Amino acid sequence: MQILRTIPEVRAARQQVQGSIGLVPTMGYLHEGHLALVRAARTQNDHCWATLFVNSLQFGSNKDFTTYPRDLPRDLAMFEAWGADVVFVPEAGTMYAQDFSSFVEVENLTERLEGAARPGHFRGVTTVVCKLLNITQPHRAYFGRKDAQQLRVIQRMVRDLAMPTTIVPIETVREADGLALASRNVHLQPDERQAAQALHQALQAAQQRYAAGERNADVLRAAMHAVLANEPLINVDYVSIADDESLAELTTVAGPALASLAVHIGTTRLIDAMELRCEITTL
Ligand code: PAF
Repeated sequence: MQILRTIPEVRAARQQVQGSIGLVPTMGYLHEGHLALVRAARTQNDHCWATLFVNSLQFGSNKDFTTYPRDLPRDLAMFEAWGADVVFVPEAGTMYAQDFSSFVEVENLTERLEGAARPGHFRGVTTVVCKLLNITQPHRAYFGRKDAQQLRVIQRMVRDLAMPTTIVPIETVREADGLALASRNVHLQPDERQAAQALHQALQAAQQRYAAGERNADVLRAAMHAVLANEPLINVDYVSIADDESLAELTTVAGPALASLAVHIGTTRLIDAMELRCEITTL
């Protein structure tokens, strides 16, 4: 596995490549969710490339950025064991020169949900993802469905700007009790980890009502709130039943819809999402 740190190094490696590249952009502190992305990238492409960069631009507070979990030697060993061919690990200065002044912004879609709760977050995500795609020029890039709004924002950016990369969504990987894998889960204390099961349970509550025929979005949101209210450690940031494409809040679910939520448990903020389906599902 090649570890590359500069843009000229990546450009030189890219010129040598024949066949397709599947890119897995990450902020490190890898888990099985990332493994699912790498597996798909390996299966669907001739080469699997990854990036590892904790992107300061997408963090609201400096504290959230500095406390984001990091373990570079462990991450590189995991990428190697998973069969990545190349990992790009830039320094902050490589990505953002002191006078860096160009940003990518997707409008409307980013004003709701995570965008409303974390102003500037998606501007940071789209700017870094655009730059990483420009640097590595992959055929496909892989993103998890847990970050449902991020996935839609990146798909929109790639479509709007005619970027020549196909965005491939990958199913959320969950613990046995339903908790979606996320790097921030490591911050949860044992009682908080226990409480965090309620995120998936709340999504399932909405899904079950929907599968049973409920189409009133307020009733679906109330079902999610009821589950979360049972957990005193959970502070709800938002609960949403939204149009799957625009992410506008719905009154009635008449087409593809996304249930999503964000909560605080102690000092940790967690998100999760589920596309509503007509059939009843378990995990
Ligand atoms: O989902 C993430 O890990 C990050 O938001 C991403 C896409 C790597 C951009 O920094």
